[in-house]
Amino acid sequence: MASYSISELKEKIKSFPKKDLIQRPTPFYKLENLSRALGGPQIYIKRDDLTGLAFGGNKSRKLEYIMQDILDKDSDVVITWAALQSNWCLQTAAAARKYGITPILVLFKIYDLPEEYDGNLLLDSLLGADIRIRDAEKGKIIREEEAEELLADVIDEVKRKGLKPYFAPIGGSMVGGSMDTPLGSISYVDAYVEMIEQASELDVEVNCVLHASGSGGTQAGLTVGAVAMGKKVRVLGISVSEDKKSYSERVWKISRDTEESLHLDIQTKLNDVIVLDEYLKEGYGVVNKDVSEAIRITAENEGIFLDPVYTGKAMAALIDLCEKGHFTKADNVVFFHTGGTAALFPNKHNLMRLART
Ligand SMILES: Cc1ncc(COP(=O)(O)O)c(C=O)c1O
Repeated sequence: MASYSISELKEKIKSFPKKDLIQRPTPFYKLENLSRALGGPQIYIKRDDLTGLAFGGNKSRKLEYIMQDILDKDSDVVITWAALQSNWCLQTAAAARKYGITPILVLFKIYDLPEEYDGNLLLDSLLGADIRIRDAEKGKIIREEEAEELLADVIDEVKRKGLKPYFAPIGGSMVGGSMDTPLGSISYVDAYVEMIEQASELDVEVNCVLHASGSGGTQAGLTVGAVAMGKKVRVLGISVSEDKKSYSERVWKISRDTEESLHLDIQTKLNDVIVLDEYLKEGYGVVNKDVSEAIRITAENEGIFLDPVYTGKAMAALIDLCEKGHFTKADNVVFFHTGGTAALFPNKHNLMRLART
């Protein structure tokens, strides 16, 4: 099995054309206060919340490649779906607007948040996105496999108008709908390379990367990056929505598609995909005391805001792992901040209630 250098991986990634949507590299630096407060390991942050498009986040990296695909396929409408306060939907709508593509967002009410114009829903409407809100079973994540059927009426409606829809899979990584390569995941192989390059400039040897994992592309890309570069780095994905067994398989599948698309002579194994699901607790999108504490600790120590659905949960996991002695004091752990902070606002009542308990 081959091991690739930074420049070899960059060359492979370059064969996929993309639009320029983000500011890169996103900042990478040490969280001195948080590392001290937690008593080790040495914690670094990769600020993918500062990508620069529509309040930032991991989805804008993915959308650089996806927008190129939409334009190459001569589509004039992008249809996608997710939960009511979805970061993916917001970022897709913003990217679409930049390239004159009409965004249609089908938002499922899978958790108890009001339908009021707040957070991402406010931003979606400021972008003039065509928003369709639908009821759904609480806590249920709708995956690619069933979405095409659920949204067939929207796709037909667009076609009947003589327009060409691009059906973008949730999270932008699992091959499906109009996307035939795992573009989102490829963008996270690139993010991995970018981070390793920044770490080596600071003379830091990364031991572990930790991040929130939801539809799989971020974790698949980071894992493939680590495997391709010789796998000295453990990538820990903190699941926000699914149990470890089924989710690991999902991430593994995207990883295999990614290495194949990039023509990498490697074989990511199922056990290279490390998913922790014990922080799921009450389920997707439910803010609990650990998450609200993680948000508070990060804000108070570093002046950085996390979000209540993804990065807050990942930081709660990091804090717990530190407390349980999972890392040595000398370990260098990178926390990928994947964005989503607009969701703080519709969760304001929960956050303030938990802060008082
Ligand atoms: C803020 C944030 N972080 C992390 C994730 C998870 O990324 P992925 O879907 O690539 O697993 C998401 C997905 O929606 C997100 O919005």
